[in-house]
Amino acid sequence: MGEFIVSPKCGNKNLDLVEILGISGSPVENSNTDRLVKLVLGSTGLKSEFIKLSDCKIEPCNACMVDDPKWGRIFPCQLDNQCIIQDDFQKIRPKLLETDALVIGGYPSYGFVDARTKTFLERLFALDHCAFQEKPLMTGKLGVSIAVCNTIEDGKTAAGQIEHMFRNLRMIPIAKIVAKGSFPCRFRRECRVRHLEPVPLASPEGIIRDPLSDKEVIKEAQTAARIIRETLEVRRKKG
Ligand SMILES: Cc1cc2nc3c(=O)[nH]c(=O)nc-3n(C[C@H](O)[C@H](O)[C@H](O)COP(=O)(O)O)c2cc1C
Repeated sequence: MGEFIVSPKCGNKNLDLVEILGISGSPVENSNTDRLVKLVLGSTGLKSEFIKLSDCKIEPCNACMVDDPKWGRIFPCQLDNQCIIQDDFQKIRPKLLETDALVIGGYPSYGFVDARTKTFLERLFALDHCAFQEKPLMTGKLGVSIAVCNTIEDGKTAAGQIEHMFRNLRMIPIAKIVAKGSFPCRFRRECRVRHLEPVPLASPEGIIRDPLSDKEVIKEAQTAARIIRETLEVRRKKG
């Protein structure tokens, strides 16, 4: 396992440490999502940094259209790739530009990727194309999308939403990892709502799962890490 920095305050200042950036949208301490993102980072053997979005204060995009004297109605970030919201996204921004690969993990919540991950993805709009740049700033960077879920179909949707953003940014999605996590419920036995379900839900206590005890998931994480490592090696040899 390679070493990685875990940033307690939403971002280490040392940019040299960022070959790969791992982001987790899960607010749960040492969650399955966190551990899966870290497994990919650690398995690359490269310098990486892990950021937990619940340690950061990041607002959603304000869709801040302005009337520019020269260009008319625009989003200001279309001129300079800078988001005007002064929050912790500004700390992560230089790392996003520095990194060669981005590993983003979230979880599904009612058919959408969780709110923290979504909010972060939305802010990446500022790094998309601007009027005076030949290509978007994130072009060609590698992307791994991860979702830890209760239902695989929902996990695929959430991981797919992360991947969708990678594609929008002209990044190269190299792996999509969907793993079953925990869905605890101590009240199912008594729960009246549960009896309304046409098909009874699995265990009455809910389910506690450790996706990192699943060999297939570990293999997928290690394969993603190997692809990152080998691709970056080839790129560096080419200069
Ligand atoms: C508010 C909320 C909504 C959720 N909705 C879904 C869902 O729609 N589909 C699903 O598969 N899991 C859902 N989950 C379960 C999470 O996907 C599950 O807790 C996941 O394992 C989180 O991983 P963690 O261990 O990394 O926190 C939901 C969890 C929360 C907290």
